[in-house]
This record gives sequence, C-alpha cells and structure tokens, in this order.
Amino acid sequence: MYIQIPGDKSITHRALILSLFTQGEDNIIEGFNQAKDCLSTIECLKALGLVVKNIDGRLITYNPDWKLNYTQNTNLDGRNSGTTIRLLAGVLAGAAGEFLFTGDDSLRKRPMARLVEPLRLMGAKVKYLDKDGYLPFSLTGGKLTGIKYKINVASAQVQSAIILAGLKASNCTIVSVPSLVRTHTQNMLKANNVIVKNLNYCVTGVKRLNSPVAGFNIKIPGDLSSASYFLVLGALLKNSHFIMENININPGRDLIIDTILKIGGDLKLLNRKIVNLEPVCDLEIRGNRKLTATTIDYKNIATGIDEIPVIALLMSQAMGTSYVKNAQELMYKESNRLDLIVSNLRQAGAEIKSCEDGFWVKGVDYLHGDSIWVTSGDHRMAMTGLIASAMAKHPIKVDNLACIDISYPGFLDELDKIMAKIK
Ligand code: S3P
Repeated sequence: MYIQIPGDKSITHRALILSLFTQGEDNIIEGFNQAKDCLSTIECLKALGLVVKNIDGRLITYNPDWKLNYTQNTNLDGRNSGTTIRLLAGVLAGAAGEFLFTGDDSLRKRPMARLVEPLRLMGAKVKYLDKDGYLPFSLTGGKLTGIKYKINVASAQVQSAIILAGLKASNCTIVSVPSLVRTHTQNMLKANNVIVKNLNYCVTGVKRLNSPVAGFNIKIPGDLSSASYFLVLGALLKNSHFIMENININPGRDLIIDTILKIGGDLKLLNRKIVNLEPVCDLEIRGNRKLTATTIDYKNIATGIDEIPVIALLMSQAMGTSYVKNAQELMYKESNRLDLIVSNLRQAGAEIKSCEDGFWVKGVDYLHGDSIWVTSGDHRMAMTGLIASAMAKHPIKVDNLACIDISYPGFLDELDKIMAKIK
C-alpha cells in the first residue's frame, strides 16, 4: 500500500526563510508542507513585506529588498512554531528595525535564552517583555560581528539561527553543537551557492554574504517525522506492507530508521539519491512482530527528538527492556514529552518507568488500551496516541485531535484509510 506523506516541515520553513536573502526575483517552493507551523512562517514573512502566494499548489515568494530595513516595529507571531521564531530571530538580528516576537501559550513556555545569548554576543539587542528567557521579546537588529560559539544543547534551530545571523555579520561565524542535528540549513544554503564550511559533522562556519541569493526553485521531499507514525504502525501490524516515496533521510534526524532496523523491523531504504544536497529514498516497511529491545543514548537522542514518542510506542512491543537515556531535552518541546510518554503508555498498559534522564520500557505483546491519552496540545503526542490506539486491544481516547494540524492535517484520514484497507 502506498502512503502519501506531506512535504518536510523543517525544509519548508527554511525554503521560506531563504527568500529573505533573495531580491527582486520569484522563488518557487514545490511540495511544501501546508500545516499550521509553516503557515506561521508565511504570515511572518508577509508581515516583513514579502509577497507569498499559493499558485496551483506551489508557493511563490518575492522579496523586494534583501537588505531588510524596517522603519516601523514588526510583530511576528510564531504561534506554536519554535522553528519560525528561532530561525527568523537569527536572520533579523542583522536587519535594521525592531521586531516583536511572540507565540502561543506552549511556545511562550519554551526556552529562548539558548537563542538570545549568542545573538546578543553578535550584537543584537534583545529585551524580554515578560519573563526572562521566554517569549515575548523584542529584538533590535543591526550590525553584527561573527562569533565562535559552542551551543550546549543539540539544537538545529539554535545552530541555524546563528548560521543565518552569521550571513549578515562581519568576520567569520563558527558554531558547534554537542552532537549531530539536522543539517537542512547548511545544505540549503550550499545548494544555493552560499559558502558554508562543515568543519566536522557538528561544526559549521559561514561568513558575510555580500550579494543576494539568486531566485530559487526548491522541491520539498517527504517528511520523515510524518512518515514515522506509519513506519511504526507498519512494523507492529502483522502482514502490513507500506511504501512511502521520496522521504528525506538527513542523518541528523534518522533515529527512527536506525531504531526500526536495530529492533528487527523489516524496513528497506530503496532508490536512495541526493537531491539539493539532501539524502532521500523510498521507505518500504513490512510487519514483523519479532522485535527486540534496544537502547538510545546521548550520542543520538537529538536525531530523533520529534520521534521519541512513537519510538517509545514501538519499544513497548519489542521483547526485552529498551532504554532511552539522556532525553531531558524532550521536556522542552511542544509539551513535556518525557512525562507524557511515560504516563500515557503506562495508562494504556505498557510496562514503562521514568528514570533520571529518560525512561525504560519492557515489551509486552500488545497494549490493553481503554485509556485516555493526554496530548497537552502536542501534535506529535496526538499522532502517537492514534497509532497506539490502532494497535491496542481496546481503543484509546486521544484528548485533542485538532492539534495534529500543526504538522500533518491529513493524518487522521490517511490512518482511517489504511486501517479500513487492513480490516
Ligand atoms: C527543528 C529542530 C528540532 C525539532 C523541531 C524542528 C528544525 O528542534 O524538534 O521540530 O526544523 O530545526 P530543536 O532544534 O529545538 O531541537
């Protein structure tokens, strides 16, 4: 059975934001992610004076002036999207003007000091308007100086923000993360002829961009995070056979693939190719209930930061005890994912327990279900809950389905279609 996966959310945000570095040309973004998070970035670009149009399912963006000079304050509301706020703050740190950044209740609880500290060191002026370290804040952009900076959390958003600020800064900017994260920003810039040095797999160097990026045409590959729910469903169901074509498998976010393979899932990566410097392939999964436990630790946690909830569900039905360690960063996502993974899976019948920096889970044959799945409005928790319910002996009630529209509006229909065919 073929499953159509939406365009990659992270790459869509970056393609939109790349438009800020172009001038006076149409940019075309095909196969873009149409979910709410990317719409937040589109709204912010419009507030910044760009033209963004959806013409026959393709986005056309147009930036009149890459110098980004603003005489009036600009309000930028990321709503639920951390990527929108963090990447835009990076670009606008080097723009003339004052920008007021805010977000919804969930985003206002997420840490911003990790972003603000390096941008201040580069020369941006940031003032917290409510609570120190959190949205809302005002940012006054201006002349930036490049820095050499070590981020102490493995965050692609923060690394991207510093790289983007570095394109407007004098001198070189060198930024490192403690372990591998997704490298879409570096790849997209390079594919569009911006000089980016990957000094090693965690360290990136950039320098000031002296002329605009040429108008571009980017085709967005499928989103591995969206595919992960069907990969886990496919791995857990007997006799399933799913194919998802043209999925991005950037090594900075492919933990779901590694884990399925390590756990004994029947997953094949077919037609591998590199498109715009990004690795893509078709994913083919067949059901295999002979799954065995595995461990995820500090080296690779960031490469599955959005997939750990659904990976935990997979582990709950893999024989033996699986461990997820060094996963504290999951507490700072759209919800406290660490707490919700443990409490929801336990309520559904899994043998799972929190430990100091993560959790362990002992595989059972199936989840009993007949429980309430609390999402705290987190789209990834909601989709994990629906996959858990599809596999459980009795249905699980997911408390918020509307939040799925943050990343994958067609998810429920796709899942219903698959389950109807399987029955
Ligand atoms: C993203 C990076 C990750 C991820 C988020 C998307 C990106 O966040 O959780 O969904 O597009 O760069 P962090 O950088 O905060 O880990």
